[in-house]
Amino acid sequence: MSETKSILQLARERRSVRTFTPEPLSKEQLETIRGHVASIREPFSGRVSFKLLDADRFSLSSPVVKGAKQYIAVCAKKGENAELAAGYAGEDLFLFLCGMGIGTVWIGGTMDRAAFEKASALKEDEIMVCITPAGCPAKMSLRENMMRKGVKADQRKKTEEIFEDRCPVDHSLAQDVYRDAVEAVRLAPSAVNRQPWYIIHDQNGFHFFLKRSMKKSDSLDMQKVDMGIALYHFCAVLDENNIAYRTEQLNEQEEGLEYILSVIPEQ
Ligand SMILES: Cc1cc2nc3c(=O)[nH]c(=O)nc-3n(C[C@H](O)[C@H](O)[C@H](O)COP(=O)(O)O)c2cc1C
Repeated sequence: MSETKSILQLARERRSVRTFTPEPLSKEQLETIRGHVASIREPFSGRVSFKLLDADRFSLSSPVVKGAKQYIAVCAKKGENAELAAGYAGEDLFLFLCGMGIGTVWIGGTMDRAAFEKASALKEDEIMVCITPAGCPAKMSLRENMMRKGVKADQRKKTEEIFEDRCPVDHSLAQDVYRDAVEAVRLAPSAVNRQPWYIIHDQNGFHFFLKRSMKKSDSLDMQKVDMGIALYHFCAVLDENNIAYRTEQLNEQEEGLEYILSVIPEQ
């Protein structure tokens, strides 16, 4: 059996996969995925659900994806936290799939949304936030390579551009874990690779803000999906290191930033 990788290792290894081999996921893989999905929790009460969709059966495709036989639609309860919840729970699943060697890519725009929504058989109070293909990664197509260059997909902001420490230096063991957690956020995927997260650390905890750099469309706020993803990376590093914390919506305010949520250590 292969060793379990840490969240930081998975965050370092993961990249968007848009080109796949023709084999569909096996029955065993699907079983393992279902088992993990049942364990997923998120802090936004967003009732996230995942719909596994057969590409041929529903004639599903995306102009940026080649060869995928299966897709997963990430859906959530309609409401202001839908995108945050979908980002958090979806990234839990996508990093788990990465650990299984299964490729994914968050897709919020480049797809026939109506076709995917229809195939997802949405309930009245549900929206489809994003989709991903799921399968065995193949050699990157020329097109995929070009796309990556277009959004500088291999580059990330420096730590000081996304993290501000307003707390006196603390040499506790937990400090190393928080450093890893911030690094896992830094490496996270985001729409058009904009990396819109900003974390302020003070004596109360880690406060997550959105530094908006894309207009939100009327229906969906992709940069809130990015924030959900970032929060998952951060909290998952704390979880695997048994750091006790709670998440809470406080009343933080910073000029030019939209406050999202705080992570408050409890030890
Ligand atoms: C919320 C979200 C929406 C995205 N939508 C698309 C999309 O519509 N089409 C696409 O090709 N990639 C999409 N991406 C993938 C990003 O372009 C990609 O994550 C980013 O460029 C970083 O590259 P990496 O994931 O390989 O690290 C999306 C990513 C996120 C997080």
